Amino acid sequence: MHDDNLSVPPTLANAPALLDQQAAAKRRVVCDTSPDEGTAVSLGGVRFAWAGNGEVDLAIDELRVSLGERLFVAGPSGSGKSTLLGLLAGVTVPQQGSVTILDTELSTLRSAERDRFRADHIGYIFQMFNLIPYLTVVENVTLPLRFSARRSGRVANPEREAERLLTQLGMGDFMRRTVTRLSVGQQQRVAAARALIGSPEIILADEPTSSLDEGHSENFVRLLFDECEQAGSTLIFVSHDSRLAPLFDRAHRLDT
Ligand SMILES: Nc1ncnc2c1ncn2[C@@H]1O[C@H](COP(=O)(O)OP(=O)(O)OP(=O)(O)O)[C@@H](O)[C@H]1O
Ligand SMILES: [Mg+2]
Repeated sequence: MHDDNLSVPPTLANAPALLDQQAAAKRRVVCDTSPDEGTAVSLGGVRFAWAGNGEVDLAIDELRVSLGERLFVAGPSGSGKSTLLGLLAGVTVPQQGSVTILDTELSTLRSAERDRFRADHIGYIFQMFNLIPYLTVVENVTLPLRFSARRSGRVANPEREAERLLTQLGMGDFMRRTVTRLSVGQQQRVAAARALIGSPEIILADEPTSSLDEGHSENFVRLLFDECEQAGSTLIFVSHDSRLAPLFDRAHRLDT
């Protein structure tokens, strides 16, 4: 196993998508362009089809996200939201088009190089969390630092930083628990802390508030914003919950 893969365990990387095997249809994203203050993410002419289903599952002609921007991605179930995040993380690569993250075109990297790039630059809150079940909450949160010198170089004391993030996210009472003994909403918050540790430039969040009620969802989003702002991170946040959209700088909709 590649060491990077613990931040994106290969057997679990596509688990969210496996839950939703709806009939494929051509997807289009309608988007406008971002202001010109530096680009974090840029997609052009992207066409992606999951192997075997014969249909284009995601089509994006152009999408650009500025450094430090907070983008909300909406769309119905099966519209390709998780597929999009997988492309941005380099877990998958499109059959056509380009995905450029921080000036690196991901298709120019081999698989192991994409794993390394992801470990260094991307914090990914998976739809199904992908926490490591036999580790404690704090051990899960500090894990990405073991696989990225870049991220660990930003953290003087990993345990203390994990505890700070967890406390911010309301998880201060659960630091030493194994993650299997947490509620779903608590696991989501551990996954968020793990994505944030070491201040990666890009945070990808796949439905991170799906188990929280309205008040807690908004609170969680604001905490995520605070942490992203402190770190200068760009946030791409996928959700069904359109009530959260106005909190963001911009929203894009994926349609079936
Ligand atoms: N691993 C996979 N293998 C084959 N097809 C897949 C896979 N993952 C997703 N798909 C298909 O791609 C399309 C988009 O799925 P995706 O999981 O990206 O949707 P989503 O918008 O994230 O949905 P949800 O809101 O339910 O999480 C669906 O038609 C789905 O069936
Ligand atoms: Mg999804």
